[in-house]
Amino acid sequence: MKLTLHIWRQKAASQAGRMVRYQHTKVSPHMSFLEMLDVLNEELIAKGEEPIAFDHDCREGICGMCGFMINGVAHGPQRGTTVCQLHMRHFKDGDELYLEPWRARAFPVVRDLVVDRSAFDRIISTGGYISVSTGSAPDGNTIPVPKKNADLAMDAAACIGCGACVASCPNGAAALFTGAKISHLALLPQGQPERYKRVLDMVAQVKQELFGSCTNIGECEAVCPKEIKLEVIARMNRDYLKASWTARGDAAPTEE
Ligand code: SF4
Ligand code: FES
Repeated sequence: MKLTLHIWRQKAASQAGRMVRYQHTKVSPHMSFLEMLDVLNEELIAKGEEPIAFDHDCREGICGMCGFMINGVAHGPQRGTTVCQLHMRHFKDGDELYLEPWRARAFPVVRDLVVDRSAFDRIISTGGYISVSTGSAPDGNTIPVPKKNADLAMDAAACIGCGACVASCPNGAAALFTGAKISHLALLPQGQPERYKRVLDMVAQVKQELFGSCTNIGECEAVCPKEIKLEVIARMNRDYLKASWTARGDAAPTEE
């Protein structure tokens, strides 16, 4: 297969970037998208040119490191798939593809297709954990969890923190990511002691990180490679309302 690639090249955050056109003639339909870029990079290195920088680690769709726009769609055209798990068989010979980094104020470009997603780490560190006494591992069955809640918590915990939701949101909002992190702990007994403090702290951090506000557009759900549902945003908002009403001394809404 032959492809024409237009790839965003930017040396550093402080420098201007531009699209650069590459003809790629050695594409196999069996390659993953990142392997296709590896081959292009080998050619660039052989010619003495700078390889294209892109983030990756596991290449198995589980770590959340990879991600960029392919023809304006986060992680490309295959639903529920990270770019590292996207294969070239989903493209046609002669296709013209435009690759760009995530575009969001809270994710500044580091180089080429790499952006700084440390804002997500700071949101997690404000509350995406539970405080428990350490010691020997407790028996997994000592705290019963209703099956429905266990399933919903597991679905929310599938978020890999890739940032596609932010990049696809016209508001640059981090609501799907934060809602997923809040939901997976709020649905489990272990997450209850800090449940309402957690939501206040994490939402406050989201505001500080210059993410936009959610207006329920739903682009985030459409591109999420882990198919996290908008319901996590509703749960986050419900918990946030309850926490802020309680903090003001008002009557809080009833539990779900
Ligand atoms: S919610 Fe989905 S798109 Fe957003 S960071 Fe998590 S896995 Fe990525
Ligand atoms: S490289 Fe780990 S999810 Fe893509």
